Amino acid sequence: MTTTALTHLTQLVTNDPSLGEGPLGLIQDAAVVIDGDRIAWVGPSSKTPATDNAVDAGGRSALPGFVDSHSHLVFGGDRTQEFNARMSGRAYEAGGIRTTVAATRAATDEQLSANVAHYLAEALRQGTTTFETKSGYGLTVEDEARALRIAGEHTDEVTYLGAHIVSPDYADDPAGYVDLVTGPMLDACAPHARWIDVFCEKGAFDGDQARAILTAGKRRGLLPRIHANQLSYGPGVQLGVELDAASADHCTHLTDADVDALANSATVATLLPGAEFSTRATWPDARRLLDAGATVALSTDCNPGSSFTSSMPFCIALAVRDMRMTPDEAVWAATAGGARALRRDDVGRIAPGARADLTLLDAPSHVHLAYRPGVPLVSGVWRKGVRVA
Ligand code: NIG
Ligand code: FE
Repeated sequence: MTTTALTHLTQLVTNDPSLGEGPLGLIQDAAVVIDGDRIAWVGPSSKTPATDNAVDAGGRSALPGFVDSHSHLVFGGDRTQEFNARMSGRAYEAGGIRTTVAATRAATDEQLSANVAHYLAEALRQGTTTFETKSGYGLTVEDEARALRIAGEHTDEVTYLGAHIVSPDYADDPAGYVDLVTGPMLDACAPHARWIDVFCEKGAFDGDQARAILTAGKRRGLLPRIHANQLSYGPGVQLGVELDAASADHCTHLTDADVDALANSATVATLLPGAEFSTRATWPDARRLLDAGATVALSTDCNPGSSFTSSMPFCIALAVRDMRMTPDEAVWAATAGGARALRRDDVGRIAPGARADLTLLDAPSHVHLAYRPGVPLVSGVWRKGVRVA
């Protein structure tokens, strides 16, 4: 196996406190050795072992590749008009999803797959090396299974979200749609997914429906996650905790009991600042969650309706500026936090044995991701040991 050393990194975020300083395990003037698809060694640049190849990263810093644990990339069409209307004062509503459902059903497999590849490549160039994506714009047995098959061509982290909204075909029979999602649609989709998700919200699915959907998925071996408390207060967060969901996503409207439940559980609070940015909504309060002891992840929620960004650096900048996170906390949340939200320990850290996923910044430290918002600082990306950008 070929070994490669990256040397003279001004600073390295390892996310392993045993390797460096503080929760980010920071090492100054560091080096990393990659062996095949794994990290083989991490330490001071002056002690770098001999390797087949070496890259002098002088003046640049590195961190683990971003782990984007929440996106909706299998879609057709776009919603520019809806965005324009919103920026002229209209409110965001879950019902906009129907526009994308119609466009997705009309798209060919090739179009959908090319679309996923396009946004994944965009994310990769911005440092994202692990990506979750969902169905949820098909809402028929065939269209949901097709979306998951296509997602699986591009990533292992695939989520069944047949319960995104009640299908327009069942507008008069929501209970019938829940039966479909937990019955024939689940049968067709379970083999193609790792996760099951539900949009628990007014205008989508209530607490009882969400419980039935996640429970049915768990019985089929899918692991639960939940869209919770995005547009209003509701039962989603506490239901997620009760069912041991890996993650409760959005967490914008939280009661003290919701915060307590998250803080005393293994359920990660995944915050999606791109959604609040693009819908001009109230920011989730990351500080409140962190101070209570909850684990926080950051993710893009990339989708054509509520958050059409694939950029984790942008989300980090928003989280620091508007959600009261420190740059260190935001960078941890976008890497190690995302890994927790996907219950993964091979990604989100740079330590011997971890997958060799690494993002190089044309900046002296990770703090610049928030300090220099909107600037394309990512100047190199390694995924599974291969330089991909
Ligand atoms: O996570 N909240 C539900 N689903 C998406 C929005 C999807 C859409 O508007 O198309 C979200 O924000
Ligand atoms: Fe979402």
